[in-house]
Amino acid sequence: MTAKIIDGKAIAEQMRLELKDEIAILRDKGIVPGLGVILVGEDPASVSYVSSKEKACRDIGIFSDDNRLPADTSEQELLALVDRMNKDPKIHGILVQLPLPKHIDENKVLLAISPEKDVDGFHPINVGKMVVGEDAFLPCTPHGVIQLLLRSKVKISGAHVVVVGRSNIVGKPVANMLVQKKDTGNATVTICHTRTQDISYFTKQADILIAAAGKPNMITADMVKDGVVVIDVGVNRVDDPTAKKGYRLVGDVDFDAVKEKASLITPVPGGVGPMTITMLLYNTVRSAVIHSVL
Ligand code: GUN
Repeated sequence: MTAKIIDGKAIAEQMRLELKDEIAILRDKGIVPGLGVILVGEDPASVSYVSSKEKACRDIGIFSDDNRLPADTSEQELLALVDRMNKDPKIHGILVQLPLPKHIDENKVLLAISPEKDVDGFHPINVGKMVVGEDAFLPCTPHGVIQLLLRSKVKISGAHVVVVGRSNIVGKPVANMLVQKKDTGNATVTICHTRTQDISYFTKQADILIAAAGKPNMITADMVKDGVVVIDVGVNRVDDPTAKKGYRLVGDVDFDAVKEKASLITPVPGGVGPMTITMLLYNTVRSAVIHSVL
């Protein structure tokens, strides 16, 4: 079997068109969705993410308040900026790019963001609401993964989903969302991680495999069963002297080999990546809608 490719770029494009229509309706009511973006320091991957987010906002009509702060910004200065954005009625969502420099307490900053503007879904209040199945801003990458599955007509209910990776940004939340008693959940979920004794014992049982370990090509063809649906969340830079930038992006899945056994698979790039930003835009528009009726 050769897998059908899940085209994350096309699905993200479709969702962005839907959001554009919603934004036009909001603008007619005098509401312009606004996102406050804060980047501390110059980590190249973070600069690249943040620039893409800002461009995506502009492209669909979201006002983006961009703040690039030097790496030696104090925790207090950062908290003061978050506080200003919490109080600014033009801003419906706040995004503080992670990771933050070591001298800043990340948890303290995430806690300072108003849960009503936490479009990343990282505030403990939103994490708690997600876990108990209440309405909340859902974290963007896991929510994007679920949208990819739904829009590719993959049956989640009753499926055995194996998640490889237990990060707070992807592994733990995606597993949580998939076990919820909801149409977007009802899966049987196994989480594998660095201390799992025999990862392939579990991955071979997966109907849906979500790779979010951050290890290039760790999922090989012998680790999956025929017909598996594979979602590759990994974004790893590997040296490539033939590439213009000197590196290329690869996922956590050995794509060329695994696609010969899978029924559906996401590529890297062009799979989960475009969905993460789309779900951020989605949360920002949701927040603007909620604020507009308050
Ligand atoms: N760093 C890597 N992914 C993310 C994300 O989704 N949101 C934020 N704020 N930082 C990140």
